[in-house]
This record gives sequence, structure tokens and C-alpha cells, in this order.
Amino acid sequence: MVNKGYTPDFPSEIVREGKVQVLVPKLSAYGVVPQDYAPSRAPVFYNPVMEFNRDLTVLAFQAFQRTANKEISICDPFTSQGIRGIRFATEIKGVNRVLIGDINMRAYRLAKYNVSLNSLENTVLVKHRDANCLLTCNSAPKKRFDIVDIDPFGTPAPHLDSALQAIRNNGLLASTATDLAPLCGVHAKACLRKYGGKPLRTEYCHELAIRLLAGCTATVAAKHDIGIHILFSHSSEHYIRLYTQISYGAGKADESIKNLGYVLHCFNCLHRETALRIFDSLQCPECGSKMDWAGPLWTGNLWNLDFVEQMIKENRTVAFKNSARITKLLTLIKDETQLPATYYIVDKLSGKLGLPSVSIQAYIKNLLSGGFQAALTHFNPRGIRTNASAMDMKNNLQKTVQPPS
Ligand SMILES: C[S@@+](CC[C@H](N)C(=O)[O-])C[C@H]1O[C@@H](n2cnc3c(N)ncnc32)[C@H](O)[C@@H]1O
Ligand SMILES: [Zn+2]
Repeated sequence: MVNKGYTPDFPSEIVREGKVQVLVPKLSAYGVVPQDYAPSRAPVFYNPVMEFNRDLTVLAFQAFQRTANKEISICDPFTSQGIRGIRFATEIKGVNRVLIGDINMRAYRLAKYNVSLNSLENTVLVKHRDANCLLTCNSAPKKRFDIVDIDPFGTPAPHLDSALQAIRNNGLLASTATDLAPLCGVHAKACLRKYGGKPLRTEYCHELAIRLLAGCTATVAAKHDIGIHILFSHSSEHYIRLYTQISYGAGKADESIKNLGYVLHCFNCLHRETALRIFDSLQCPECGSKMDWAGPLWTGNLWNLDFVEQMIKENRTVAFKNSARITKLLTLIKDETQLPATYYIVDKLSGKLGLPSVSIQAYIKNLLSGGFQAALTHFNPRGIRTNASAMDMKNNLQKTVQPPS
């Protein structure tokens, strides 16, 4: 039954998203001038742009539940108005328990109202609590969750410890990071403090951002004798998102930290490589210039092909507002899952060579016919992920600009 005693003390409205309806702050009351960021100015956070993130989360958690083939429990400790947890309980098959919480009293009261609005009192429990406290209180083996979703303001780093301890063996950790300025190297010191790795301002810094978050997650997990296996990740709009399966065991932790290393980058010729160690003199093997580096970070896979395929299957069974965009993202990611770390931006290469802009499809075709692997990347519409070296890329670019007669 809807909690009739509740009336928000701020302008609000009902919105529909996925299969649920929730009461949220009326954003038009908070974003008076265009530069106002209405979601943050409202007394309870709500960002309609993140529907895409939430849709993908529903698909990823459903894919995970399907693979686990059992009833699952989920914790959403940064719930705001409750929309995530409410969607999980309503839209994902096989969910038997959802715990949601928020430190903001007005968010807690609104989330509680929204749970009753969707008649989910028997499945979704709401707490007014600090996230780390909520997670730690549920870290005893019998209380743990199958999935924890960390969706905070900015960085998830201060919550990884408590989140990892609140997840069952073989469970899933989903985390969002919106602090792209540190992760992409604009505030390098903040990145080192939060994630324990040095960022680098390259054209593929969003991929490095995911690798820094994943590396930090692997390091924190290892302290608890937990290994990680990345199932899915993406960079969209102003955030990155990582889905990591965890498994308990010192051996599993040892295996996963073997993926920690560095990405070396030559700003002169655009050569890049991954390395497990770095030394003082980092000479570029292609042009001899001194290379810069990012890390320590995760050098392993950022996606599991089977998991991506399962998400694609799940996407066929739903009708989200964002379904077409999701299909595009998943298709791009599926094609890049098996390719090496980092990608090239076509226009950066042509700029270096003083060549005109080329069709990315023609460029990829040339690479493929030259025996290289190459695909578009979801990170950037002008990006190519490939096993070709920077030198090969430049040679192929010349051929694309001036096809042999
Ligand atoms: C980015 S919003 C979450 C958005 C929400 N998950 C969604 O999809 O709409 C972050 C939320 O975390 C809450 N929060 C911030 N610090 C917290 C903490 N230490 N413990 C619990 N909640 C916190 C804020 O009140 C805010 O509602
Ligand atoms: Zn070089």
C-alpha cells in the first residue's frame, strides 16, 4: 500500500522508466539557467540521462542471474529516489531480495515512498544509512549479496573495500565512476590518491580510466584474498562503468593481480604497448623517443565475450526506450572484445602525417585486407582497435588516402 503519510517538501513529479513509476524531484524547478546542473541542485538526486546506464544494468544483472541460474539478491547502497533497486526487483527475473539505502534523509523517505508506490515492500528493504556502514553490516557470509551496485557521486574507490566484502563468492560488483577529470589525467594527483595509479592524457584516456578503476578493484580485492574477472565495461557520456565477477581464494587473487601493469605511450609517433614492469629509460621501439606511461592499471580483458552475447540476447527480450542505442553499443563492444588494449583515433594519425580525413570504414577494410585485426570501438566513433602497430597504421592510412591505381 502507498505510504499516504508522505508528501515531499520539494517540487516533484511522477516519471516512468522501464517497467516502474517513481516520484522524483521536478527538475525544471532546479535548472533555471542552462549551466545549472539540475540533478545535483535538487534535494534528492535524479538524472534522467542515466536511464541508459540503468537499462544496461538491468540487462547485465539479468545476464548474470541467467548464467548463475539461481535466485539472487542485490544491494544498491547509493539509491537516491530508489529507482535502481525498484527496477531490479521489478524487471529482473529471479531476484528474491533487494536492499537499498541512502545517507540523505529526504532520499531515504522518497525511496521508501517509491517502494510502496510499486508495491515492492516484500522484496525491497530501504535503509537510511551510510553506504560503507550498510555494506559492512552485511559482510557476514550468510548476509552477503550476489550483486552490489556502487553508484556514488564521483569515485567508487572509497567504497570498494566494503562492497567487495559484502559480495558472495562468484558474485558481481558493478561500479560507476564519474570523476573523469582525475581518471583522464586532468587531475593526476587525485587519480593517484583515489585509484593508486598514474593516468595519462591520451586519445584513449577513457579506456585507461576503466583500466585504472579495474586495477584498483583488483588490488583492493586481493587484500581480501579475492580475485576478479571482468565481465563487462563501458564508457558513456560523463562516466565509466565496470562489472566484475569476484571469486574467493588466495590463488584467485594471485592470478588476477598478474593482470596489473602499465600502458606505455609515445607522444611522438603514437606507438603504445602494455608492460608488466617499467624501467627508468622508456625508449620507444619505433622512433626512439622517451615514452610516458599510465599505471599500475588492469592490462587484461575488459569484456567477457559470452557475457556480452548473453546481454545481447537479453536486450532482444526487452523494449527499453534506449534499446536501439544499447544494441549499437553491445554490437560495437562484441567486436572489440578480442582485440588488444588501446585504440587509435583516425584523425590524430592523419593530423600527425598532415593527411586529409578518411572514411573509417575504408581504413578498417584496408587493415583487414592487409592481414590485421581491426574493429570500431564503442569508446569513440573515430576510433579503431587493432593489432596493427602505429607504423602499420600510418602506412595503411597513406594507402587509404591514396588507393593504389
Ligand atoms: C549519483 S547518486 C545515485 C543515483 C541513483 N543510483 C540513480 O540511479 O538514480 C548518489 C547518491 O548517493 C548518496 N550518498 C552520498 N554519499 C553517501 C554515503 N556515504 N552513503 C550512502 N549514500 C550516499 C547521495 O545522497 C545520492 O543520493
Ligand atoms: Zn615513438
